[in-house]
Amino acid sequence: MPYKYVVKVASKGFDEASDLTPFSWASYLGDSGRGHEQFFRATRFQNSPEANNGPLQYGNKNKDSMWNLISKNPQFNDDFNAFMEASSGDRGFWVDWFPVQEHLLDGFTGGAEDVFLVDMAGGRGQDIKAFEAKFPNTPGRLILQERECMLDEAKLSGKIEKMGFDLFKPQQVKGAKVYYMKKILHDWTDSQCQEILQHIRSAMLKGYSKLIIEEFVMPEKDAPLLATLWDWNMLVFCSTMERTQTQWNQVLASAGFQVVKVWSPPGDSQSIIEAEMV
Ligand SMILES: C[S@@+](CC[C@H](N)C(=O)[O-])C[C@H]1O[C@@H](n2cnc3c(N)ncnc32)[C@H](O)[C@@H]1O
Repeated sequence: MPYKYVVKVASKGFDEASDLTPFSWASYLGDSGRGHEQFFRATRFQNSPEANNGPLQYGNKNKDSMWNLISKNPQFNDDFNAFMEASSGDRGFWVDWFPVQEHLLDGFTGGAEDVFLVDMAGGRGQDIKAFEAKFPNTPGRLILQERECMLDEAKLSGKIEKMGFDLFKPQQVKGAKVYYMKKILHDWTDSQCQEILQHIRSAMLKGYSKLIIEEFVMPEKDAPLLATLWDWNMLVFCSTMERTQTQWNQVLASAGFQVVKVWSPPGDSQSIIEAEMV
């Protein structure tokens, strides 16, 4: 049976850009690619408990986090964001398979002034744009939050609002129906996740607001290749990891959340963790 190839966001990146847009960001990581091996030899194969003292910093011989590196280099920033967009595009969007209507929209009791959805650290906004495209008549506001220096990256039309924010500061949007984040908590250690989650929890309404986390949920064994590669990336670049369901349960519980359900479509184990405050 002959293979059929379909052009998707990632493959278009090779074609359209003067460089290898979605993938070349990895080349900006300097010596870290080689550094991680030396790092682990030097630390006797122990991961660093500190986010900014891992293989990336060891290889680059400084204390810059991944996010500082990106902010300092516009081309790296562009390529990283293209990579994130491409990674989403190929998999399909959460709204294509998660029961948004039944589990989120039907429970929205607010009006036009109230916030339905906040996409926290949403990058160029591909996930909230996909939501708006699928549910154009949603009552309530849609907000894309990102680091102030990243806000110009998102090209939006329609009713999505942009807002600068910091994961480590109190969440300004109070009482939204949905707090969504994709591929954010995997960038941070357990104690940092706890801090991020506590800020979100303080803004939520008990019994009403939902936390929707889109991340890999690694199986305890026989993990799919893509998720395993991401796990390795997280280790090298952020001193973190992709988490199993047990690890997600622990991190969420540490900040006063309980998991309602883990939704895992067939495929590479990228899932939605639906959670609410205890
Ligand atoms: C791995 S990307 C995920 C982006 C998007 N959710 C996606 O899936 O494509 C992580 C995002 O976190 C943002 N970020 C990093 N540190 C942050 C901070 N302290 N406060 C807010 N956002 C931050 C970055 O700018 C980046 O867009």
